[in-house]
Amino acid sequence: MKKAELVFIPLPGVSHLASTVEAAKLLLQRDCRLSATFLIMRFPNDDIIEAYTKEISTPSLRIISIPEQDISPGSETYLFDLIESQVPSMRNVLSELLQKSSDRIAGIVLDLFCSRFVDVADELGIPSYIFFTSSASALGLFTHLTSLKFDHNLDLTQFENSEAELSVPCVSIKVPAKVLPAFSVRTGPLTERAFDCFKRFFKVKGFLINTFYELESYAIRSLSNGKLPKVYPIGPVLNLHHQIGSSEGRSDEDEIKKWLDIQPNSSVVFLCFGSRAGLEVPQLKEVASALERSGYRFLLSIRKPPPQGKFRPTDYEDFDGVLPEGFLERTKGRGKLIGWAPQMEVLSHAAVGGFVSHCGWNSTLESVWCGIPVATFPMYAEQQLNAFQLVKEYGMAEAIRVDYVKDDRMDSEAEVVGSEEIEVAIRRLMEAEGSGGVREKVRRMQKESRLALEEGGSSYNAQISFIEDVIKNVD
Ligand SMILES: *[C@@H]1O[C@H](CO)[C@@H](O)[C@H](O)[C@H]1NC(C)=O
Ligand SMILES: *[C@@H]1O[C@H](CO)[C@@H](O)[C@H](O)[C@H]1NC(C)=O
Repeated sequence: MKKAELVFIPLPGVSHLASTVEAAKLLLQRDCRLSATFLIMRFPNDDIIEAYTKEISTPSLRIISIPEQDISPGSETYLFDLIESQVPSMRNVLSELLQKSSDRIAGIVLDLFCSRFVDVADELGIPSYIFFTSSASALGLFTHLTSLKFDHNLDLTQFENSEAELSVPCVSIKVPAKVLPAFSVRTGPLTERAFDCFKRFFKVKGFLINTFYELESYAIRSLSNGKLPKVYPIGPVLNLHHQIGSSEGRSDEDEIKKWLDIQPNSSVVFLCFGSRAGLEVPQLKEVASALERSGYRFLLSIRKPPPQGKFRPTDYEDFDGVLPEGFLERTKGRGKLIGWAPQMEVLSHAAVGGFVSHCGWNSTLESVWCGIPVATFPMYAEQQLNAFQLVKEYGMAEAIRVDYVKDDRMDSEAEVVGSEEIEVAIRRLMEAEGSGGVREKVRRMQKESRLALEEGGSSYNAQISFIEDVIKNVD
């Protein structure tokens, strides 16, 4: 039988690839008329990919490596440069596929940063889609800002450090300018490249979004009524295979579980600030003091911030000098410090009762899936929007801050949030509460998240609807 083939182009890097593979598998499971081919770009020196791709390839999930290009890392637009450099190779590989493939290419599914390849797909007459790994609201906000900037010639830099509030179609309440993504209200090469990327969103045929209708019904309805292409909320697609190819953390994982096993139910506050960020030492000390004074049990994941121009934080050799004097002794028994954290395992553990989070979209989905309420400490990108919506629009989180920004610009002194403010939020997060509070709302959404993926659920139906639509492309 000839199948309808979907060609996926994920971002380089194994974790990005892994989440796209999860999404692809979900679709392949739904319908045996589909096959998938992954075109994989490479970051230099990323050896893990090789092993991982062998592991996942099957007759209906094919892997093709795109020859590596020599782009030197370090520039803030590195990712976009790398993608640009791959345009000719992508064109070649795709046209060859069109000629040789035994299956018919029904569509090409791009990572949201890879919208540059929409032009290539258009040249070759292949319909393109985007797998959007953040929220429907973020998609709505990005495209709204793009339209303000280009269709209405609005100068978005007026919103930097502004007290203004904006009406944004996909958010049911006014959005403070302070929670707009920092890159969107600045100028410079990164801002230009990002908007260049968003402009192409209007040219695709549809968006697969890692969200579910019950969580973002307002945003999803608004997107469906707007001028954007069709949206398919197919999630939550969770990152269940976090340790793929990485030896990092495996042995620690058992130890963390053992420690959690002896803590009472819902007694531990878990703190983790994302795969990209580490807290600077002054901020870390405030967080530690807040934990110490709160009296709560805690599991604190801390990582060393990456040096300028690097992406990934690393683990500390030891915690000397990064925590307040005597902190470890004074909190012995009720607190545990770790480096890299197996986040899904931790959030799924009965001992965990609250989560202090940077509010990356993946973490947000994981906290919902596990029914754990969040205290918000956003840092980059659309995390302030996520935090703001969780706290103000959905009533599903407590705020430490919703508009904190971790500023990477050398010229500015990082703001430090004081320990009192953090302590108060942690108490609100962990205290027992009556009905209508954040914990109850998250628990309710947890049930919805699981129902959405079951047969007949909203995300299940969106997956089916996407498949029907792409198969029509080759009928
Ligand atoms: C979520 O995680 C996946 C895999 O690590 C990654 O591809 C994706 O970009 C992440 N999404 C966000 C919004 O960070
Ligand atoms: C703690 O949680 C576990 C898992 O949900 C449950 O089986 C157990 O009964 C709980 N223990 C208490 C004391 O509530």
